[in-house]
Amino acid sequence: MRCGPLSLRNPFLLASGIWGESGESLAGAWSAGAGGVVTKSIGSEPRPGYPNPTIETYERWGMLNAMGLPNPGIVEYPREIEIAQRAGATVIGSIFAGDAEEFSRLGARMAKTGVVALELNLSCPHAEGFGTEVGSDPKDVEEIVRRVVDVAHVPVIAKITPNTSDPAALAVAAERGGAAAVSAVNTLRALAIDVRLRRPVLAHGIGGLSGPAIKPVGLACVWKIYEKVSIPVIGIGGIMTADDALEYVMAGARAVEVGTAVAFDGIAVFGRLVRDLGTRLDQLGFRRLEDAVGVAHGPGSRPSG
Ligand code: DHB
Repeated sequence: MRCGPLSLRNPFLLASGIWGESGESLAGAWSAGAGGVVTKSIGSEPRPGYPNPTIETYERWGMLNAMGLPNPGIVEYPREIEIAQRAGATVIGSIFAGDAEEFSRLGARMAKTGVVALELNLSCPHAEGFGTEVGSDPKDVEEIVRRVVDVAHVPVIAKITPNTSDPAALAVAAERGGAAAVSAVNTLRALAIDVRLRRPVLAHGIGGLSGPAIKPVGLACVWKIYEKVSIPVIGIGGIMTADDALEYVMAGARAVEVGTAVAFDGIAVFGRLVRDLGTRLDQLGFRRLEDAVGVAHGPGSRPSG
């Protein structure tokens, strides 16, 4: 199937930062049936990340995390990408940086690893100097995307934050900058307090919420973005079942990323999602997934391209 310039074997991508960052773990998600894998966000330099605890889970409905962008840096990381590629995986390289100049240098290096696309992390909700801090103003988003597009000869995907009044304006800015697609959404800024200890549960304090709790928020963002851009939208946020994915598709997504479901249930979810989606498309009378893209907006609301 196609998602703009990307050719994917199915619409279920492993979301960034889930299931480890090693080449073997990415390859494992691919053999389990993922349609593609997005790497952990990689920066210019190695970073240890925040101290523990970094994750809090809420039964089946959510996960709060603040890892602090731990990563081995762009000099070391290409060897992991190569391991995943040797296993046949379609790899999308996620990068984070503090400004357009750094994004452009890093994007050029990541593109050289042979990844099929770059995903720009413009949306981590809690890392000082990165993520939402550089991805919340449409002017910044447009400039960052344009600078990366200028140097990277692979499609650029802008990952949009929901922690703003107008996520669709950020998607429009990304499209203007030359993005091939946008992915939405990253985690929602969130907090848990341990009342006995009288302090936040996570060592960093503020974190990002993912999982079923945020699905309605992600859907609303994808809905609004679909109405404003003509590039493909990749839906993210609380996709646990094939019907969750179909909701995103009917809101306007052409593919989806799966994160918390993998953290909760392991990579076997990909096999189940792919199988169940085929069954549901048949039951609902869709010949192909593409035919369901954006249908919830009503007939003629937008040409499906
Ligand atoms: C981290 C969390 C995010 O939501 C993100 O987009 C990137 C990094 C982290 O804590 O490492």
